Amino acid sequence: MNPITPNDGRLFNRRDFIAATASAGTGLLLVPTAPAQTPSPVTPNRRHRYALVGTGSRSGMYRQALLQTHAAHHELVGLCDVNAGRLQLAQAQADALGVTGLPAYQAKDFDRMIRETQPDTVIVTTKDATHHQYIIRAMELGCDVITEKPMTTDEHKCREVLDAQRRTGRRCRVTFNYRYSPHRTQVKDLLMSGIIGDILSVDFHWMLDTHHGADYFRRWHSQKANSGGLMVHKATHHFDLVNWWLSAVPVSVMATGKREFYTPKMAHRLGLEGAHERCHTCPEAAKCSFFLNLAADKSLKELYLDQESHDGYFRDRCVFRPDIDIEDTMNVQVRYNTGVTMAYSLNAFNAWEGYMITFNGTKGRLEHKEEEHVYLSKDRSAPTSVKADGTYIRIYPLRAPAYQVDIWKGHGAHGGGDQVMLDDLFLPVKPVDKYQRAADQRGGAYSILTGIAANHSFLSGSAVNIADLVANIPLPDYPQMPSHDIPVPMPPRA
Ligand SMILES: NC(=O)c1ccc[n+]([C@@H]2O[C@H](COP(=O)([O-])OP(=O)(O)OC[C@H]3O[C@@H](n4cnc5c(N)ncnc54)[C@H](O)[C@@H]3O)[C@@H](O)[C@H]2O)c1
Repeated sequence: MNPITPNDGRLFNRRDFIAATASAGTGLLLVPTAPAQTPSPVTPNRRHRYALVGTGSRSGMYRQALLQTHAAHHELVGLCDVNAGRLQLAQAQADALGVTGLPAYQAKDFDRMIRETQPDTVIVTTKDATHHQYIIRAMELGCDVITEKPMTTDEHKCREVLDAQRRTGRRCRVTFNYRYSPHRTQVKDLLMSGIIGDILSVDFHWMLDTHHGADYFRRWHSQKANSGGLMVHKATHHFDLVNWWLSAVPVSVMATGKREFYTPKMAHRLGLEGAHERCHTCPEAAKCSFFLNLAADKSLKELYLDQESHDGYFRDRCVFRPDIDIEDTMNVQVRYNTGVTMAYSLNAFNAWEGYMITFNGTKGRLEHKEEEHVYLSKDRSAPTSVKADGTYIRIYPLRAPAYQVDIWKGHGAHGGGDQVMLDDLFLPVKPVDKYQRAADQRGGAYSILTGIAANHSFLSGSAVNIADLVANIPLPDYPQMPSHDIPVPMPPRA
């Protein structure tokens, strides 16, 4: 889940931050503070070098990993963003962790950053529609890439990324943290074991509530040109999970989508005079329970409100304004290359947040529910981790008693997935992963193409073939699953 708070892993405490910001002063270091370097020789003791582009909320997790948790083996050597204020903030945060003078570059100087800081890998955490620019350019300049989801937002950019990867031979890792949440890995483990036989169909329903769900309608995500809509920005997680759970890829997609809750009409129905520009200046703030107070939340204020003068980006735009062009209600039918069919829905104004998924197999049915405990903390900003008693996995064998299995538990953001994924990314020695959770550009492409196809189907009303969007994508590396051709035991008489 994307948090409403600007940072999954706080980089440092409040006192450290105040000290760091004060010492950073007002002069922004937009020129590199380190001299140009030649590539470091590859030696066993050499730390792996990273540059990071996009210093917003999500980048905090990677910066903390490189500057602190995994600093023995890895090194952050450069930062890049379009927003000079957020760059300065990220520099100050690095200072507070003892890494002073971290070179920072404006987006237009990305090439220069690569030339001068000589990273091995570029981490891309910009807004979704710009990922492809940095993924492609980084690979062209000889770097490997780690990119946040979604890999990109439409089929044209997807083709460009795949072509660039083929051309350059560089590695492109797409960070699907959801695969790493222990209970989702457990679902994969159970399906791989054949406990319900081979899977023939899936029903999957994802609910976003009116705290977290509404937040997408305030931010850059609310424009398809930035995010591809929730079908891409959000559902890339869900469609990737299904591809990986099934070890399958989508073939065709049929979908309907609409926006009926986050609308000017709903503002009226809720008793407001109408939609306004943003919460910060809203004349009806006192009446609106969707009001977000950026000024009252230290993290949101320093990351967004204080940086508006640099790029004019408002993090708190009205969720009912007319120019929103993403859907809040989506229903999708998918057919997979293994013959599996899926009914999926995504709803962004729900009373609770989480999901329900069922896998129907030749030997039984697996039901999994995750009811996320999305309360708002005292400052009304922080979502929490998964609520223990709201998550279950149940097995219903054919004509035999059903039972519930003990859930594998994790800790921290995204159901414990972020921490496990960071270890998989940055530990110098990694155990063999029988679940093959590390994804590259092939998994990245197939995860977005279901949603991109759905976006087309919303408009045309017709089914869309994935191969008509992007042809000949090699199959991702997925674990072996129970075959559709092996004998199935005759179930006991009812
Ligand atoms: N895996 C997850 O669970 C998860 C969670 C949150 C966000 N994300 C992803 O992380 C990425 C960043 O999201 P966020 O929440 O940090 O957003 P954000 O708005 O906080 O940060 C985005 C940053 O990108 C910068 N930026 C925008 N356009 C740019 C450009 N052309 N060049 C350089 N920098 C540019 C912005 O100035 C900002 O600093 C998104 O792709 C999002 O989908 C993933």
